[in-house]
Amino acid sequence: MSTDSRPAAFFQLLDYVEAELGFATSYYDDAYLDRRVSSRMRRSGAEDYAEYHELLRSDEDERTALLDAFSVNVTSFFRNPEVWEEIRSVLRALSAEHDRPAVWSAACSDGREPYSLAMLSLDDPEVEADRVAITATDIDPEILAAAREGVYENTRTTDIGEQLAPLDDYERYVERDGERFSVTDPVKELVSFESHDLINGDPKSNFDLVVCRNLFIYIDTEHKLPILETVSKSLSRGGYLVIGKTETLPEPLKPAFEPVVRRLRIYKKTGNVRLD
Ligand SMILES: C[S@@+](CC[C@H](N)C(=O)[O-])C[C@H]1O[C@@H](n2cnc3c(N)ncnc32)[C@H](O)[C@@H]1O
Repeated sequence: MSTDSRPAAFFQLLDYVEAELGFATSYYDDAYLDRRVSSRMRRSGAEDYAEYHELLRSDEDERTALLDAFSVNVTSFFRNPEVWEEIRSVLRALSAEHDRPAVWSAACSDGREPYSLAMLSLDDPEVEADRVAITATDIDPEILAAAREGVYENTRTTDIGEQLAPLDDYERYVERDGERFSVTDPVKELVSFESHDLINGDPKSNFDLVVCRNLFIYIDTEHKLPILETVSKSLSRGGYLVIGKTETLPEPLKPAFEPVVRRLRIYKKTGNVRLD
C-alpha cells in the first residue's frame, strides 16, 4: 500500500501514539507501522483505524499491546554468522594496531550483539580480549536492563546453543541451566551498557569499530541519515563500520567510506563526514 492510499485516520492514530503514548512514530517507516497496527486491529476485532483509535483510548491493555508490537528488539548471538567471520578479522587487526581498541555496539537490543563481540574477543587467540573495550547502547531502558542481566532462554523459535555455534566451546562463556543461559562475568566485564539515542543524541568519539545493525531498516528515510551521521562521526579515521546485511549507506556518507567487504556491509572510514 502506498503512503497516499492510507486514510487520514491512520495518521491521526500515529499522532495520538506519539503525543499520548510516547512512541516516536514519526521516525519510523509508515509501512512498518501499518503492518503492526493492522495486526493488532485483526487481533482485537477493530474494523478500521478510527475504531481501533477509540479502542486505544479506552483500553490500557491494548495500548500496552500496541507498544509491544512496535518494539523492534529482534536480535540474536552472532546474527548472520558469515558477517562475524569478518568481524573476527577486524578485531584481530585492531588488536594488533591499537593498545586498547574501542568498540561500540550501537542499538544493542538485549545485549546479544555486544556479548558476541566480547565472546569472540575472548575466544580468538589473536585478539587480546582484556584490552578490548566494548560500549553498548540502546534507547530502550527495559531492553538495556535485560542486557545487563545477560540471561537468555530457549523458546519454541529460539535455540541459544545454535546461535552460539560459531564459538568452539560456548560453555566457557555461558552457564547453562536447562533452557536458560547466563553470560559469565569475564564476558560481562568487557561490556559497558549505557542509554543513547542515535537520532537525537550527540556523537561519541574515537571508536575503532562501530557495529550498528538492523535499526534503520525500520526507520523512515529522513531519519536514517542522522543515525548514520552520529555513528560515522563517532569513528576514528581508519575505523571500521558494520551495518546490517540488508542495509545500505546513504549516498551523502559514501565519500567518507571505502568498502572492506561490500557484500557484508563492512566499511572503513577514510575521510571526514561532511554534510551540507
Ligand atoms: C532490531 S534491534 C537490532 C539489534 C542488534 N543491533 C542486531 O542487529 O541484532 C533494533 C534496536 O534499536 C533500538 N533503537 C530504536 N530506536 C533507537 C534510537 N533512536 N537510538 C538508539 N537505539 C534505538 C531498539 O530499542 C532496538 O533494541
